[in-house]
Amino acid sequence: MRLDTEQFKEIDPGSRVLMGPGPSDVHPRVLRALSAPCIGHLDPYFLRVMGETQQLLRHVFQTENELTIPVSGTGSAGMETCLVNLVEPGDEVVVCVNGVFGTRMCDIVGRLGGRLVRVDAEWGRAVAPEALEDVLRGRNPKLVAVVHAETSTGVCQSLEELARLTHAAGALFVVDTVTSLGGMRVALDAVGIDAVYSGTQKCLSCPPVWPRSPSDPRRWPRSRRARRPRSAGTSTSAWCAATGATSGPTITRRL
Ligand SMILES: Cc1ncc(COP(=O)(O)O)c(C=O)c1O
Repeated sequence: MRLDTEQFKEIDPGSRVLMGPGPSDVHPRVLRALSAPCIGHLDPYFLRVMGETQQLLRHVFQTENELTIPVSGTGSAGMETCLVNLVEPGDEVVVCVNGVFGTRMCDIVGRLGGRLVRVDAEWGRAVAPEALEDVLRGRNPKLVAVVHAETSTGVCQSLEELARLTHAAGALFVVDTVTSLGGMRVALDAVGIDAVYSGTQKCLSCPPVWPRSPSDPRRWPRSRRARRPRSAGTSTSAWCAATGATSGPTITRRL
């Protein structure tokens, strides 16, 4: 079959002012960087830029965590990577749900064979710490996951008390910061967030990309990590092996 390649024009969408929660308008400096020549992943220049990017990400996430990395993918890919590297079949996982993105986390936990326990709040309201406390009583979940800024309803979830309750139950605290990072305070180390993912197309004014930062992996008990993540593409072990950084749980984002 012949294809008339002349019909495919150079991509030029013209200018738009993006007013939604994301994607947002991209800063001209970022657009210039996107048109830079491609280089190899072992090129010293690439390694330098990657190191600088990690430094900047640690700053925006307010963390000292070594395993703070950019990963090519959307926010949903970040969500998946985070959970794939933590959840194994049979693991009990608590997800706080008050909108679309908490629901998406439940879906992924189900696909991974996790035993899902939901803490539901009315859409448009934050999850009350007492509701989580009730669910945690007498349980020993591997992790508790929550959305910081639930874009579908505009609700901001306060994290400190949920983090405290989660750690008291011996679980890891996993947070979606796709819409909050860069727009609101996201203080990983101060709050005690163990794993986090985000996206760059919202408050960071970049094209869709997803940053992630687990808390200091040295704090992650080996028993809390997925021994063999059920996805090769989203496993962070390759990253750890290549950089000799750390072995730990993962989250992904897109560079
Ligand atoms: C809170 C939240 N989490 C996850 C996602 C998924 O991100 P993406 O659309 O980049 O897959 C979004 C997207 O709007 C979001 O707002």
